[in-house]
Amino acid sequence: MSKELIRLSDCVMSYDGDVVLDHINLYINDREFLTLLGPSGCGKTTTLRIIGGFLSPTAGDVFFDGVRINDVPPHKRAVNTVFQKYALFPHLNVYENVAFGLRIPRTETVEQGEKTISRKVKLSRQEIHNRVMEMLEVVNLKGFERRSVSALSGGQQQRVAIARALVNHPKVLLLDEPLGALDMRLRKDMQGELKRIQREMGITFVYVTHDQEEALAMSDTVVVMDQGKIQQIGTPEDIYNEPKNAFVADFIGESNILDGVMRADGVVEIFNRRFPCLDKGFAPDEPVDVVIRPEDVDIVDPGSGQLRGTVTAVTFKGVHYDTIVDFYGFKWLIQTTDFCPTGSDIGIQIDPDGIHVMRKSQYSGLFGDYSSYSEEYDEIGDADYVPDGEEDGHEA
Ligand SMILES: Nc1ncnc2c1ncn2[C@@H]1O[C@H](COP(=O)(O)OP(=O)(O)OP(=O)(O)O)[C@@H](O)[C@H]1O
Ligand SMILES: [Mg+2]
Repeated sequence: MSKELIRLSDCVMSYDGDVVLDHINLYINDREFLTLLGPSGCGKTTTLRIIGGFLSPTAGDVFFDGVRINDVPPHKRAVNTVFQKYALFPHLNVYENVAFGLRIPRTETVEQGEKTISRKVKLSRQEIHNRVMEMLEVVNLKGFERRSVSALSGGQQQRVAIARALVNHPKVLLLDEPLGALDMRLRKDMQGELKRIQREMGITFVYVTHDQEEALAMSDTVVVMDQGKIQQIGTPEDIYNEPKNAFVADFIGESNILDGVMRADGVVEIFNRRFPCLDKGFAPDEPVDVVIRPEDVDIVDPGSGQLRGTVTAVTFKGVHYDTIVDFYGFKWLIQTTDFCPTGSDIGIQIDPDGIHVMRKSQYSGLFGDYSSYSEEYDEIGDADYVPDGEEDGHEA
């Protein structure tokens, strides 16, 4: 999985001077599952369209297998796309939808002595049949050949769209929020299916989503974007455990993000208290952002903890309790299996590897306080509030 297949080199996209992609540098390896992740408008689809050849970057270069392909049109790239709206042909059945791309004669160039000649190649009926049936098997739709696509569920239509995109055996499949229209359950099933298809066929997937859980679950590599810029590239574990800045920490999972000061290698100060950590290489007394994940906080006796706070809200989540704790006016989210009732005083303990220190960035101070989160809980709580005298009103 180490051979580089696609490279975007310093790609800029601007519309009337508005920069929507800001010097994107990215390489994608053969057979990699790479996901572009970020909020709406961050430039995911634009990046995908540049790879697919539907857009030409305002500046910068696109390479495929080491060859510059800026001017190569989409149909001449070894790339296919699955869009969020499947765009199936409603008047064709499942079989014909998948076979469609195979019936179009392809132009092939061959070397003959000194000359390069191009010729039209048509697949035989039998070849088309074999390929279509092979693909229907891959996407678990055998037996649906004659079914009208309008008589399929959303998940089945999505599978047809994937079969259609894969039937030409592209080297790369681009998928733009392909599961966006599906309900949660089906989405989870299809995530597993897509991953299996990608592995089985040995194809490179470039996947777009704004769903961080989906990105973590499916990808070899995650590219986190915001405002037209790449914020971080890494494995799901890297992105989760070692976020580069407050944006990434906040966008991926739940995070308490606090102001800190690095007092020495391995010592960070939060709320005027020193915490041992594993981070080093910062300037003496450098102001930093500190990420503490909700599951990395242990609840202990108020007297023996590193910090002492008051529980302001508790919500049962099945596996754990979401517990909001007020420390000196700053609200943290702690996920714990220990039940601590609202109003109780607690102490907390954080292991050195539960603390992650980041440099200050343009995103510092914007994220990571759970005050508004707990206000939402307060409002939910208020909905249960019954004014005096109206309680049990139907009994009187
Ligand atoms: N043809 C265009 N002309 C002007 N601005 C455009 C054009 N296409 C896209 N943009 C702008 O570029 C930015 C990035 O758009 P893009 O579609 O890549 O976002 P996205 O990350 O895919 O978002 P979403 O998750 O909503 O699909 C947006 O601000 C968008 O308004
Ligand atoms: Mg988009």
